[in-house]
Amino acid sequence: MDGFHVTIRTSASPLSGTYGRVWISLIGTLSESPPERVEHCLLPGSAYTVVIKSKEEVGIVVLLKLRLEAQPGFPDLDWHCGDVQVRRSSEDPEVEVFPCHKWIRTADGNVELRNAKVCLKNKETLAILTNHRERDLQQKQQFIKWGTFVEGGPHCVDTSSVTSLGPNFSYMHQRPVYNVHYIKSFIERRTSWSSLQELETFFLFNGRENTIAKYVQAHWQEDAFFGYQCLNGCNPLCIRQIHNLPSNLSVTSEMVRPFLPWDSSLEQEMERGHLYLLDYEVLDQLPANTVNDKQTYLAAPLCLLHYNRQGELKPIAIQLQQAPGPQNPVFLPSDSAPDWLLAKMWVRNSDFQVHQLLSHFLRTHLIGEVCCTATLRQLPEIHPLHQLLMPHIRSTLQINIQARVTLLATKGVFDKSVACGLETIPLLLARGTQRLRYSSMCVPDDIRMRGLDALPICYYAQDALRVWDALHRFVAGWIRLYYFDDKDVQQDCELQNWIREIFTEGFLGLSHIGVPQSFQTAAEMCKFVTMVIFSCSALHAAVNFSQLDYNIWIPNSPAAMSRPPSQNKGSVSEEDIFSFLPEVNSSCHVLSVLSLLSQPAVDFVPLCHYNEWYFSSGATTKLVEEIQRELKMIAKDIANRNSQLELPYPYLSPDHIENSVTI
Ligand SMILES: [Fe+2]
Repeated sequence: MDGFHVTIRTSASPLSGTYGRVWISLIGTLSESPPERVEHCLLPGSAYTVVIKSKEEVGIVVLLKLRLEAQPGFPDLDWHCGDVQVRRSSEDPEVEVFPCHKWIRTADGNVELRNAKVCLKNKETLAILTNHRERDLQQKQQFIKWGTFVEGGPHCVDTSSVTSLGPNFSYMHQRPVYNVHYIKSFIERRTSWSSLQELETFFLFNGRENTIAKYVQAHWQEDAFFGYQCLNGCNPLCIRQIHNLPSNLSVTSEMVRPFLPWDSSLEQEMERGHLYLLDYEVLDQLPANTVNDKQTYLAAPLCLLHYNRQGELKPIAIQLQQAPGPQNPVFLPSDSAPDWLLAKMWVRNSDFQVHQLLSHFLRTHLIGEVCCTATLRQLPEIHPLHQLLMPHIRSTLQINIQARVTLLATKGVFDKSVACGLETIPLLLARGTQRLRYSSMCVPDDIRMRGLDALPICYYAQDALRVWDALHRFVAGWIRLYYFDDKDVQQDCELQNWIREIFTEGFLGLSHIGVPQSFQTAAEMCKFVTMVIFSCSALHAAVNFSQLDYNIWIPNSPAAMSRPPSQNKGSVSEEDIFSFLPEVNSSCHVLSVLSLLSQPAVDFVPLCHYNEWYFSSGATTKLVEEIQRELKMIAKDIANRNSQLELPYPYLSPDHIENSVTI
């Protein structure tokens, strides 16, 4: 035998190479070869073959051990290894590939690679590979630990430093340079907006090229548009159908009769499923922030909406606080125009808080981080679920660490400019976590429970259902590749540890939320995995990329209110309205952040497009092709539908959905 022919391939991207040298040994079924130093420069895109001979019989090579060593006098650069390919001899046509596709540092010591056979633990045929899985997890569990961001909120990764995660969890998210010149030029002005005209001039410079924002600006005062954006705006997760009025909403049949069909009543309309509610109870009695050294205010409104015979959803009653009483009137469309408009602005202000911190941060970013942390700690890299999920969740660690130390920290945008400041964020996130329901995270259940399937104008519901269904079929097909029956699911101890850890660390062991604590069937597993992928891709797209469109016209989404909620009717005039808005510098601070967050990345990866080796081999390739074909059809249908709409809903078109959470 002339020795093993081992080809070491460095990834092709320009910074993949290193001045260091690599040591390699082969771990076989019979013995381990002594480490051999590879005397080649590890240049980007290079492939070098070395011959490794061992005095002892190695047997079948099942693992490779690599160690990167710095060279004296040369910088200690990390190395991005593509893969290592092994042939038993120069003549052997069979090549065994050991994928790596990650950074290796000199500080990592020995790094073991195994062959590309993705499998479940109980399908391993060699003890040496079972042991390797266990070592992989032990190492990860030492390095990735659970921490607490806020008491009562989902646990998160226990570090506040992106660099401590190492190069495999750091990404350069390239976003286009967005011109915030005309927003930032206002940022020093600590006074109120003085007139509608001033706001219009500001908008002219910053929103004139945004067709959705222009529509918002033109229609923001209209009741039908108010209802429309509860369904299709940046926060479509709050509104729900009701069949009974909440006991704390002081609405009577008589009160709303003028806004209902002449031949119907409140009770009849409720029975027909035409009544909807926005309830911001989660904000009740929360302390509001001080912005520019001045107190801001929060409400906790209840807003009743009616789906009318013209196919419009219109607000018909708004109560600004939860507790009914004489100082908490119910505002009606028949009240004075300023009273009614201001009541709607309070709802929009509450929606801003809930959208940013619960619909966006909690429901996509934090849930993604919980699943990423549990995946790293409980699923070895060779587990098929690790391979499937990582492209969708990997970025959450870096992004959320950055968000916690910037946007959500002292002097960040919430501290300086939003009604929910640093004192309130932990309280709201804890309440939001308590109120999470697994059923509301799963689109078909959520849409049905909130009665959104009864509303032909709810494009969010229609598109979310189609994308969910496609993802669900993809995940089901993928599960069938590895789990032949429910018993396989029950017996996968790594999978069971994973979901258990998500339940205890992510959802704090709160069984009322309804997240599974274990999987008994492949169907349960399929639903949960679909939920994770959907939340980190489609849902994030729906709540993130819509932000600027609906918020840049400031009166439509004030991030803070400068005066307290009205306790009686007739106390505000048209001119007063603007004194409630956040001041100029703080509104511009919010908009400059939202402008950056709303841009798709330059290196945008669309939903279900994968660069990872695992997706371009064997049966997974077929599944990926199928889902991509299906998503393309959905995108085409949505484009056709949108071309007929006065105001399109583009956010859940698969063309616009990023594969993972972005900042
Ligand atoms: Fe985001």
